[in-house]
Amino acid sequence: MRPAIDADNRALYDPCRLARASMTVLIKNGRIVTAVDDYSADILCEDGRVHTIGGDLKVGADVRVHDASGLLVLPGGVDVHTHLDWDFGVARTADTFGSGTKAAAFGGTTTLVDFANQNGRALPEALADWHGRAASACIDVAAHLILTRVTDQTLADMRAMIHHEGVSSFKLFLAYPGVLMVDDGSLFKAMRVARDNGALTCVHAENGPVIQVLIEEALAAGHTLPKYHASTRPSLMEGEATQRAIRLAELAEAPLYIVHLSAAEALAAVAEARDRGVPAHAETCPHYLFLTQEEYERAGFEPAKYVMTPPLRDHHHQAMLWRGLSTNDLQVISTDHCPFCFNEQPLGIKYSKQQGIGNFNKIPNGAPGIETRLPLVFDGGVRKNRISLNRFVQLTSTMPAKLFGLFPRKGTIAVGSDADIVLFDPEEHWTIRAQDHHSRVDYSLFEGRSVTGRVKKVFLRGELIVEGSKWLGREGLGSFVKRGQAGAI
Ligand code: URP
Ligand code: ZN
Ligand code: ZN
Repeated sequence: MRPAIDADNRALYDPCRLARASMTVLIKNGRIVTAVDDYSADILCEDGRVHTIGGDLKVGADVRVHDASGLLVLPGGVDVHTHLDWDFGVARTADTFGSGTKAAAFGGTTTLVDFANQNGRALPEALADWHGRAASACIDVAAHLILTRVTDQTLADMRAMIHHEGVSSFKLFLAYPGVLMVDDGSLFKAMRVARDNGALTCVHAENGPVIQVLIEEALAAGHTLPKYHASTRPSLMEGEATQRAIRLAELAEAPLYIVHLSAAEALAAVAEARDRGVPAHAETCPHYLFLTQEEYERAGFEPAKYVMTPPLRDHHHQAMLWRGLSTNDLQVISTDHCPFCFNEQPLGIKYSKQQGIGNFNKIPNGAPGIETRLPLVFDGGVRKNRISLNRFVQLTSTMPAKLFGLFPRKGTIAVGSDADIVLFDPEEHWTIRAQDHHSRVDYSLFEGRSVTGRVKKVFLRGELIVEGSKWLGREGLGSFVKRGQAGAI
Protein backbone atom coordinates (compact mmCIF):
# COMPACT_ATOMS: atom_id res chain seq x y z
CA MET A 1 0.00 0.00 0.00
CA ARG A 2 1.21 3.50 -0.79
CA PRO A 3 -0.12 6.63 0.80
CA ALA A 4 0.92 8.86 -2.11
CA ILE A 5 -1.73 10.24 -4.43
CA ASP A 6 -1.76 11.22 -8.06
CA ALA A 7 -2.84 14.55 -9.56
CA ASP A 8 -6.44 13.36 -9.61
CA ASN A 9 -6.38 13.06 -5.79
CA ARG A 10 -6.72 9.29 -6.06
CA ALA A 11 -4.33 7.13 -4.11
CA LEU A 12 -1.74 5.36 -6.21
CA TYR A 13 -2.40 1.69 -6.59
CA ASP A 14 0.06 -0.96 -5.50
CA PRO A 15 3.17 -1.74 -7.63
CA CYS A 16 1.09 -4.00 -9.97
CA ARG A 17 -1.10 -1.04 -10.82
CA LEU A 18 -0.05 -0.74 -14.45
CA ALA A 19 -0.60 -4.43 -15.14
CA ARG A 20 -4.11 -4.20 -13.76
CA ALA A 21 -4.96 -0.84 -15.24
CA SER A 22 -5.98 -2.45 -18.50
CA MET A 23 -8.22 -4.98 -16.74
CA THR A 24 -11.77 -4.92 -18.00
CA VAL A 25 -14.62 -6.80 -16.37
CA LEU A 26 -18.28 -7.11 -17.30
CA ILE A 27 -20.93 -7.90 -14.68
CA LYS A 28 -24.04 -9.07 -16.50
CA ASN A 29 -27.71 -9.60 -15.71
CA GLY A 30 -27.60 -8.31 -12.15
CA ARG A 31 -30.06 -6.27 -10.12
CA ILE A 32 -28.20 -3.09 -9.25
CA VAL A 33 -29.21 -1.61 -5.92
CA THR A 34 -27.88 1.72 -4.68
CA ALA A 35 -29.21 4.02 -1.95
CA VAL A 36 -31.77 5.36 -4.42
CA ASP A 37 -32.01 2.99 -7.42
CA ASP A 38 -33.06 -0.59 -8.03
CA TYR A 39 -32.84 -1.75 -11.66
CA SER A 40 -31.44 -4.43 -13.93
CA ALA A 41 -28.39 -3.62 -16.05
CA ASP A 42 -24.88 -4.68 -16.96
CA ILE A 43 -21.79 -2.93 -15.60
CA LEU A 44 -18.56 -2.57 -17.51
CA CYS A 45 -15.56 -1.86 -15.28
CA GLU A 46 -12.34 -0.54 -16.72
CA ASP A 47 -9.17 0.77 -15.14
CA GLY A 48 -10.63 0.22 -11.70
CA ARG A 49 -13.73 2.33 -12.24
CA VAL A 50 -17.25 1.86 -13.46
CA HIS A 51 -17.01 2.70 -17.15
CA THR A 52 -20.50 2.00 -18.52
CA ILE A 53 -23.86 0.92 -17.12
CA GLY A 54 -26.42 -0.25 -19.63
CA GLY A 55 -28.66 -2.96 -21.01
CA ASP A 56 -27.13 -5.97 -22.72
CA LEU A 57 -23.59 -4.57 -23.07
CA LYS A 58 -21.41 -6.37 -25.64
CA VAL A 59 -17.69 -6.90 -25.14
CA GLY A 60 -14.83 -8.68 -26.85
CA ALA A 61 -13.78 -12.25 -26.05
CA ASP A 62 -10.84 -11.01 -23.95
CA VAL A 63 -13.13 -9.45 -21.34
CA ARG A 64 -13.92 -11.50 -18.25
CA VAL A 65 -17.70 -11.78 -17.83
CA HIS A 66 -19.43 -12.45 -14.49
CA ASP A 67 -23.03 -13.57 -14.61
CA ALA A 68 -24.97 -11.96 -11.75
CA SER A 69 -28.35 -13.51 -12.57
CA GLY A 70 -30.41 -13.84 -9.39
CA LEU A 71 -27.92 -11.75 -7.43
CA LEU A 72 -28.02 -8.25 -6.02
CA VAL A 73 -25.26 -5.99 -7.29
CA LEU A 74 -24.34 -3.64 -4.45
CA PRO A 75 -21.73 -0.95 -3.93
CA GLY A 76 -18.92 -2.27 -1.73
CA GLY A 77 -19.59 -1.78 1.96
CA VAL A 78 -17.96 1.15 3.75
CA ASP A 79 -17.17 0.52 7.41
CA VAL A 80 -16.16 3.74 9.19
CA HIS A 81 -15.42 2.30 12.62
CA THR A 82 -12.64 -0.28 12.95
CA HIS A 83 -9.66 -0.77 15.25
CA LEU A 84 -7.06 -2.86 13.41
CA ASP A 85 -3.67 -3.48 14.97
CA TRP A 86 -4.77 -0.97 17.58
CA ASP A 87 -3.21 -0.30 20.98
CA PHE A 88 -5.77 0.09 23.73
CA GLY A 89 -4.18 0.63 27.13
CA VAL A 90 -1.95 -2.41 27.62
CA ALA A 91 -3.72 -4.52 24.98
CA ARG A 92 -3.49 -4.66 21.18
CA THR A 93 -6.32 -5.83 18.94
CA ALA A 94 -5.93 -9.27 17.39
CA ASP A 95 -6.25 -8.35 13.72
CA THR A 96 -3.49 -6.94 11.60
CA PHE A 97 -4.55 -4.87 8.61
CA GLY A 98 -3.88 -7.95 6.51
CA SER A 99 -6.20 -10.26 8.44
CA GLY A 100 -8.84 -7.65 9.30
CA THR A 101 -9.25 -6.31 5.79
CA LYS A 102 -9.37 -9.82 4.33
CA ALA A 103 -12.20 -10.59 6.76
CA ALA A 104 -13.90 -7.33 5.80
CA ALA A 105 -13.70 -8.26 2.11
CA PHE A 106 -15.35 -11.64 2.74
CA GLY A 107 -18.11 -9.69 4.44
CA GLY A 108 -18.64 -7.41 1.44
CA THR A 109 -16.76 -4.37 2.77
CA THR A 110 -14.29 -2.78 0.36
CA THR A 111 -13.38 0.40 2.26
CA LEU A 112 -12.57 0.98 5.92
CA VAL A 113 -12.00 4.14 7.88
CA ASP A 114 -9.84 2.96 10.76
CA PHE A 115 -8.72 4.71 13.94
CA ALA A 116 -5.15 5.94 14.23
CA ASN A 117 -4.34 6.74 17.85
CA GLN A 118 -2.47 9.90 18.81
CA ASN A 119 -1.43 8.26 22.09
CA GLY A 120 -0.01 11.54 23.35
CA ARG A 121 2.25 11.96 20.29
CA ALA A 122 2.37 14.60 17.58
CA LEU A 123 -0.29 13.83 14.97
CA PRO A 124 2.15 13.36 12.04
CA GLU A 125 4.01 10.74 14.09
CA ALA A 126 0.78 8.95 14.99
CA LEU A 127 -0.35 8.92 11.37
CA ALA A 128 3.02 7.66 10.14
CA ASP A 129 2.82 4.82 12.67
CA TRP A 130 -0.67 3.96 11.40
CA HIS A 131 0.51 4.00 7.76
CA GLY A 132 3.21 1.51 8.68
CA ARG A 133 0.62 -0.85 10.14
CA ALA A 134 -1.88 -0.30 7.33
CA ALA A 135 0.59 -1.23 4.60
CA SER A 136 -0.73 -4.80 4.56
CA ALA A 137 -4.34 -3.77 3.84
CA CYS A 138 -6.15 -5.88 1.25
CA ILE A 139 -8.94 -3.32 0.66
CA ASP A 140 -8.94 0.46 0.52
CA VAL A 141 -8.40 2.21 3.83
CA ALA A 142 -8.60 5.70 5.25
CA ALA A 143 -7.79 7.03 8.71
CA HIS A 144 -9.51 8.99 11.45
CA LEU A 145 -7.23 10.35 14.15
CA ILE A 146 -8.04 9.82 17.83
CA LEU A 147 -7.01 12.90 19.82
CA THR A 148 -5.82 12.19 23.36
CA ARG A 149 -3.93 15.45 24.02
CA VAL A 150 -5.18 18.71 22.54
CA THR A 151 -2.45 21.37 22.62
CA ASP A 152 -1.96 24.37 20.32
CA GLN A 153 0.40 22.19 18.30
CA THR A 154 -2.29 19.49 18.05
CA LEU A 155 -4.75 22.05 16.72
CA ALA A 156 -2.20 23.21 14.13
CA ASP A 157 -1.46 19.60 13.21
CA MET A 158 -5.18 18.95 12.72
CA ARG A 159 -5.19 21.52 9.92
CA ALA A 160 -2.23 19.84 8.25
CA MET A 161 -3.88 16.42 8.61
CA ILE A 162 -7.07 17.67 6.95
CA HIS A 163 -5.52 19.64 4.10
CA HIS A 164 -2.41 17.61 3.31
CA GLU A 165 -2.98 14.07 4.59
CA GLY A 166 -6.63 13.44 3.71
CA VAL A 167 -7.62 12.83 7.32
CA SER A 168 -10.88 14.73 7.70
CA SER A 169 -12.30 13.29 10.91
CA PHE A 170 -11.15 13.13 14.52
CA LYS A 171 -12.43 11.07 17.41
CA LEU A 172 -12.42 12.23 21.01
CA PHE A 173 -13.44 10.19 24.03
CA LEU A 174 -15.55 11.35 26.95
CA ALA A 175 -14.91 7.91 28.50
CA TYR A 176 -11.88 5.90 29.67
CA PRO A 177 -10.26 8.41 32.10
CA GLY A 178 -6.49 8.13 32.18
CA VAL A 179 -6.39 6.22 28.90
CA LEU A 180 -8.23 8.06 26.15
CA MET A 181 -10.53 10.60 27.80
CA VAL A 182 -10.24 14.33 27.10
CA ASP A 183 -11.91 17.18 28.96
CA ASP A 184 -14.80 19.20 27.55
CA GLY A 185 -12.55 22.18 26.79
CA SER A 186 -10.28 20.06 24.62
CA LEU A 187 -13.26 18.63 22.78
CA PHE A 188 -14.66 22.11 22.22
CA LYS A 189 -11.34 23.42 20.85
CA ALA A 190 -11.00 20.48 18.48
CA MET A 191 -14.58 20.93 17.28
CA ARG A 192 -13.92 24.53 16.28
CA VAL A 193 -10.81 23.63 14.27
CA ALA A 194 -12.70 20.78 12.62
CA ARG A 195 -15.55 23.14 11.74
CA ASP A 196 -13.24 25.75 10.20
CA ASN A 197 -11.45 23.16 8.07
CA GLY A 198 -14.22 20.91 6.78
CA ALA A 199 -13.69 18.03 9.17
CA LEU A 200 -16.06 15.97 11.30
CA THR A 201 -15.70 15.45 15.05
CA CYS A 202 -16.58 11.94 16.23
CA VAL A 203 -17.35 11.45 19.91
CA HIS A 204 -17.40 8.39 22.14
CA ALA A 205 -20.14 9.61 24.44
CA GLU A 206 -20.19 8.13 27.94
CA ASN A 207 -19.55 9.96 31.20
CA GLY A 208 -16.13 8.51 32.05
CA PRO A 209 -15.58 9.92 35.57
CA VAL A 210 -19.01 8.82 36.84
CA ILE A 211 -18.56 5.38 35.30
CA GLN A 212 -15.19 5.19 37.06
CA VAL A 213 -16.92 5.75 40.42
CA LEU A 214 -19.40 2.98 39.65
CA ILE A 215 -16.60 0.61 38.61
CA GLU A 216 -14.64 1.26 41.82
CA GLU A 217 -17.76 0.74 43.96
CA ALA A 218 -18.61 -2.51 42.16
CA LEU A 219 -15.12 -3.90 42.63
CA ALA A 220 -15.08 -2.85 46.30
CA ALA A 221 -18.33 -4.77 46.75
CA GLY A 222 -16.71 -7.88 45.27
CA HIS A 223 -18.57 -7.65 41.98
CA THR A 224 -15.88 -8.86 39.62
CA LEU A 225 -17.79 -10.80 36.95
CA PRO A 226 -18.02 -9.57 33.33
CA LYS A 227 -21.70 -8.66 33.73
CA TYR A 228 -20.69 -5.76 35.98
CA HIS A 229 -19.11 -4.15 32.96
CA ALA A 230 -22.68 -3.53 31.78
CA SER A 231 -24.20 -2.41 35.06
CA THR A 232 -21.43 0.13 35.65
CA ARG A 233 -22.00 1.78 32.25
CA PRO A 234 -25.65 2.84 32.47
CA SER A 235 -27.53 4.14 29.46
CA LEU A 236 -28.26 7.38 31.35
CA MET A 237 -24.56 8.22 31.31
CA GLU A 238 -24.42 7.59 27.57
CA GLY A 239 -27.39 9.91 27.22
CA GLU A 240 -25.77 12.56 29.39
CA ALA A 241 -22.49 12.54 27.45
CA THR A 242 -24.29 12.55 24.11
CA GLN A 243 -26.32 15.57 25.17
CA ARG A 244 -23.15 17.30 26.39
CA ALA A 245 -21.32 16.62 23.11
CA ILE A 246 -24.28 18.00 21.19
CA ARG A 247 -24.35 21.18 23.27
CA LEU A 248 -20.62 21.69 22.76
CA ALA A 249 -21.03 21.12 19.03
CA GLU A 250 -23.87 23.61 18.95
CA LEU A 251 -21.75 26.22 20.66
CA ALA A 252 -18.87 25.47 18.31
CA GLU A 253 -21.28 25.43 15.35
CA ALA A 254 -19.59 22.21 14.29
CA PRO A 255 -20.98 19.03 12.77
CA LEU A 256 -20.90 16.07 15.14
CA TYR A 257 -20.91 12.29 14.74
CA ILE A 258 -21.75 10.11 17.74
CA VAL A 259 -20.06 6.72 17.41
CA HIS A 260 -21.51 3.34 18.46
CA LEU A 261 -24.77 4.74 19.84
CA SER A 262 -26.54 2.09 21.92
CA ALA A 263 -28.98 3.82 24.26
CA ALA A 264 -32.46 5.29 23.89
CA GLU A 265 -31.46 8.34 25.94
CA ALA A 266 -28.58 9.07 23.57
CA LEU A 267 -30.80 8.60 20.54
CA ALA A 268 -33.40 10.95 22.00
CA ALA A 269 -30.72 13.63 22.39
CA VAL A 270 -29.59 13.20 18.78
CA ALA A 271 -33.17 13.22 17.46
CA GLU A 272 -34.04 16.34 19.44
CA ALA A 273 -30.95 18.13 18.15
CA ARG A 274 -31.61 17.13 14.55
CA ASP A 275 -35.18 18.36 14.86
CA ARG A 276 -33.73 21.76 15.75
CA GLY A 277 -31.47 21.65 12.69
CA VAL A 278 -28.25 20.85 14.54
CA PRO A 279 -25.92 18.80 12.26
CA ALA A 280 -25.71 15.88 14.69
CA HIS A 281 -25.18 12.45 13.14
CA ALA A 282 -24.90 9.02 14.69
CA GLU A 283 -24.09 5.40 13.96
CA THR A 284 -25.06 2.18 15.64
CA CYS A 285 -23.59 -1.30 15.27
CA PRO A 286 -25.00 -4.78 14.51
CA HIS A 287 -24.37 -6.04 18.06
CA TYR A 288 -26.72 -3.39 19.49
CA LEU A 289 -29.34 -4.26 16.87
CA PHE A 290 -29.27 -8.04 17.30
CA LEU A 291 -28.03 -8.81 20.83
CA THR A 292 -29.15 -7.74 24.29
CA GLN A 293 -27.77 -7.67 27.82
CA GLU A 294 -29.07 -11.22 28.29
CA GLU A 295 -25.69 -12.32 26.89
CA TYR A 296 -24.15 -11.21 30.19
CA GLU A 297 -26.07 -14.01 31.94
CA ARG A 298 -24.20 -16.74 30.03
CA ALA A 299 -22.35 -19.38 32.04
CA GLY A 300 -18.78 -19.04 33.29
CA PHE A 301 -16.55 -16.43 31.75
CA GLU A 302 -18.41 -16.50 28.40
CA PRO A 303 -20.00 -13.04 29.00
CA ALA A 304 -16.51 -11.55 28.59
CA LYS A 305 -16.94 -12.08 24.84
CA TYR A 306 -19.66 -9.42 24.99
CA VAL A 307 -17.64 -6.87 26.91
CA MET A 308 -17.61 -3.96 24.55
CA THR A 309 -18.29 -0.29 25.18
CA PRO A 310 -21.02 0.82 25.39
CA PRO A 311 -22.37 -2.51 26.65
CA LEU A 312 -25.33 -4.40 25.22
CA ARG A 313 -28.68 -2.97 26.35
CA ASP A 314 -32.20 -4.34 26.78
CA HIS A 315 -34.99 -4.83 24.22
CA HIS A 316 -36.41 -1.35 24.76
CA HIS A 317 -33.17 0.28 23.64
CA GLN A 318 -32.92 -2.09 20.73
CA ALA A 319 -36.42 -1.24 19.51
CA MET A 320 -35.55 2.46 19.70
CA LEU A 321 -32.43 1.92 17.61
CA TRP A 322 -34.48 0.28 14.84
CA ARG A 323 -36.84 3.22 15.05
CA GLY A 324 -33.89 5.63 14.81
CA LEU A 325 -32.71 3.89 11.65
CA SER A 326 -36.12 4.31 10.07
CA THR A 327 -36.46 7.99 11.07
CA ASN A 328 -32.89 8.76 9.90
CA ASP A 329 -31.83 9.88 13.37
CA LEU A 330 -29.24 7.11 12.92
CA GLN A 331 -27.55 7.32 9.53
CA VAL A 332 -24.85 4.66 9.59
CA ILE A 333 -24.32 1.05 10.69
CA SER A 334 -20.64 0.36 11.30
CA THR A 335 -18.97 -2.52 13.12
CA ASP A 336 -16.69 -1.05 15.83
CA HIS A 337 -14.58 -4.11 15.05
CA CYS A 338 -12.21 -4.15 18.02
CA PRO A 339 -11.21 -7.81 18.30
CA PHE A 340 -9.62 -9.42 21.32
CA CYS A 341 -9.35 -13.20 21.47
CA PHE A 342 -11.38 -14.98 24.13
CA ASN A 343 -8.71 -17.60 24.86
CA GLU A 344 -5.00 -17.07 25.32
CA GLN A 345 -3.28 -17.67 21.97
CA PRO A 346 -0.10 -19.70 21.56
CA LEU A 347 1.51 -17.45 18.96
CA GLY A 348 1.60 -13.85 17.95
CA ILE A 349 -1.50 -12.51 19.66
CA LYS A 350 -0.61 -11.42 23.17
CA TYR A 351 -3.86 -10.21 24.69
CA SER A 352 -7.11 -11.96 25.43
CA LYS A 353 -10.30 -11.54 27.40
CA GLN A 354 -8.77 -13.90 30.00
CA GLN A 355 -6.87 -10.89 31.39
CA GLY A 356 -10.10 -9.94 33.13
CA ILE A 357 -10.75 -13.11 35.12
CA GLY A 358 -11.31 -11.85 38.66
CA ASN A 359 -11.74 -8.21 37.58
CA PHE A 360 -14.18 -7.20 34.84
CA ASN A 361 -12.40 -3.86 34.52
CA LYS A 362 -9.33 -5.63 33.12
CA ILE A 363 -11.20 -7.32 30.26
CA PRO A 364 -10.07 -5.63 27.05
CA ASN A 365 -13.13 -3.73 25.78
CA GLY A 366 -14.18 -4.57 22.27
CA ALA A 367 -15.63 -7.25 20.05
CA PRO A 368 -15.27 -8.53 16.48
CA GLY A 369 -17.80 -8.02 13.70
CA ILE A 370 -16.04 -6.91 10.53
CA GLU A 371 -17.13 -9.92 8.45
CA THR A 372 -20.81 -10.21 9.34
CA ARG A 373 -22.21 -6.68 9.02
CA LEU A 374 -23.85 -6.94 5.60
CA PRO A 375 -25.46 -10.39 6.02
CA LEU A 376 -26.73 -9.55 9.51
CA VAL A 377 -28.27 -6.24 8.52
CA PHE A 378 -29.72 -7.70 5.34
CA ASP A 379 -31.21 -10.66 7.19
CA GLY A 380 -32.40 -8.86 10.31
CA GLY A 381 -33.22 -5.56 8.61
CA VAL A 382 -34.36 -6.07 5.03
CA ARG A 383 -35.79 -9.57 5.29
CA LYS A 384 -37.58 -8.75 8.54
CA ASN A 385 -39.10 -5.67 6.85
CA ARG A 386 -37.51 -3.21 9.23
CA ILE A 387 -35.65 -1.33 6.49
CA SER A 388 -35.84 -1.25 2.70
CA LEU A 389 -33.17 -2.62 0.41
CA ASN A 390 -32.18 0.93 -0.60
CA ARG A 391 -31.92 1.92 3.05
CA PHE A 392 -29.69 -1.11 3.67
CA VAL A 393 -27.25 0.18 1.03
CA GLN A 394 -27.55 3.70 2.36
CA LEU A 395 -26.71 2.67 5.94
CA THR A 396 -23.83 0.34 5.13
CA SER A 397 -22.21 2.11 2.19
CA THR A 398 -23.58 5.41 0.89
CA MET A 399 -24.09 7.45 4.05
CA PRO A 400 -20.78 6.49 5.64
CA ALA A 401 -19.08 7.40 2.35
CA LYS A 402 -20.90 10.74 2.19
CA LEU A 403 -20.41 11.71 5.81
CA PHE A 404 -16.72 10.88 5.76
CA GLY A 405 -15.70 12.49 2.47
CA LEU A 406 -15.43 9.38 0.30
CA PHE A 407 -18.45 9.88 -1.96
CA PRO A 408 -18.92 9.48 -4.94
CA ARG A 409 -15.65 7.61 -5.40
CA LYS A 410 -17.00 5.13 -2.82
CA GLY A 411 -20.51 4.32 -1.63
CA THR A 412 -22.37 3.95 -4.92
CA ILE A 413 -22.39 2.30 -8.31
CA ALA A 414 -22.15 5.07 -10.88
CA VAL A 415 -20.07 5.82 -13.95
CA GLY A 416 -16.70 7.09 -12.73
CA SER A 417 -16.97 5.62 -9.25
CA ASP A 418 -14.47 3.02 -8.13
CA ALA A 419 -15.60 -0.41 -9.27
CA ASP A 420 -16.01 -1.69 -5.71
CA ILE A 421 -18.87 -4.09 -6.22
CA VAL A 422 -20.47 -6.90 -4.24
CA LEU A 423 -22.55 -9.69 -5.76
CA PHE A 424 -24.91 -10.76 -3.01
CA ASP A 425 -27.24 -13.77 -2.99
CA PRO A 426 -30.42 -12.67 -1.17
CA GLU A 427 -31.70 -16.24 -0.83
CA GLU A 428 -28.76 -18.27 0.47
CA HIS A 429 -29.22 -19.61 3.99
CA TRP A 430 -26.09 -20.16 6.03
CA THR A 431 -24.87 -20.26 9.61
CA ILE A 432 -22.33 -17.91 11.14
CA ARG A 433 -19.32 -19.81 12.52
CA ALA A 434 -16.12 -18.20 13.79
CA GLN A 435 -14.14 -21.11 12.35
CA ASP A 436 -15.16 -20.01 8.85
CA HIS A 437 -14.13 -16.41 9.45
CA HIS A 438 -10.94 -14.77 8.27
CA SER A 439 -10.21 -12.58 11.27
CA ARG A 440 -7.54 -13.77 13.71
CA VAL A 441 -10.02 -13.55 16.57
CA ASP A 442 -11.23 -16.87 18.00
CA TYR A 443 -14.95 -16.24 18.41
CA SER A 444 -18.00 -14.59 16.89
CA LEU A 445 -20.66 -12.67 18.79
CA PHE A 446 -23.15 -14.38 16.46
CA GLU A 447 -21.92 -17.99 16.64
CA GLY A 448 -24.57 -20.42 15.37
CA ARG A 449 -26.94 -17.72 14.11
CA SER A 450 -28.69 -18.67 10.86
CA VAL A 451 -28.98 -15.89 8.33
CA THR A 452 -30.28 -15.52 4.80
CA GLY A 453 -28.23 -13.49 2.37
CA ARG A 454 -24.60 -14.05 1.52
CA VAL A 455 -21.70 -12.32 -0.18
CA LYS A 456 -20.76 -14.31 -3.30
CA LYS A 457 -18.22 -12.14 -5.15
CA VAL A 458 -16.36 -8.98 -4.26
CA PHE A 459 -14.56 -6.67 -6.67
CA LEU A 460 -12.09 -4.08 -5.45
CA ARG A 461 -11.56 -1.44 -8.12
CA GLY A 462 -12.65 -3.99 -10.71
CA GLU A 463 -10.42 -6.77 -9.45
CA LEU A 464 -12.15 -9.93 -8.20
CA ILE A 465 -10.87 -10.53 -4.67
CA VAL A 466 -13.52 -12.87 -3.22
CA GLU A 467 -15.25 -15.66 -5.10
CA GLY A 468 -17.40 -17.76 -2.75
CA SER A 469 -14.98 -19.11 -0.18
CA LYS A 470 -11.97 -18.49 -2.45
CA TRP A 471 -9.58 -15.65 -1.63
CA LEU A 472 -8.13 -13.98 -4.69
CA GLY A 473 -6.93 -10.79 -3.03
CA ARG A 474 -3.62 -10.14 -1.37
CA GLU A 475 -2.01 -8.05 1.30
CA GLY A 476 -0.92 -4.65 0.02
CA LEU A 477 -3.62 -4.50 -2.65
CA GLY A 478 -5.46 -1.82 -0.69
CA SER A 479 -4.83 1.87 -1.34
CA PHE A 480 -4.82 4.65 1.19
CA VAL A 481 -7.68 6.97 0.34
CA LYS A 482 -7.28 10.65 1.03
CA ARG A 483 -10.67 11.96 2.03
CA GLY A 484 -12.37 15.23 1.21
CA GLN A 485 -14.61 17.39 3.36
CA ALA A 486 -16.49 15.40 6.01
CA GLY A 487 -19.74 15.99 7.86
CA ALA A 488 -21.18 18.27 5.19
CA ILE A 489 -24.54 16.54 4.81
O1 URP B 1 -15.47 -1.62 23.31
C1 URP B 1 -15.08 -0.91 22.40
N1 URP B 1 -15.95 -0.24 21.68
N2 URP B 1 -13.78 -0.82 22.14
C2 URP B 1 -13.20 -0.02 21.18
C3 URP B 1 -12.93 1.34 21.68
C4 URP B 1 -14.09 2.22 21.45
O2 URP B 1 -14.61 2.74 22.41
O3 URP B 1 -14.49 2.43 20.30
ZN1 ZN C 1 -15.60 4.34 21.34
ZN1 ZN D 1 -14.56 1.80 18.56
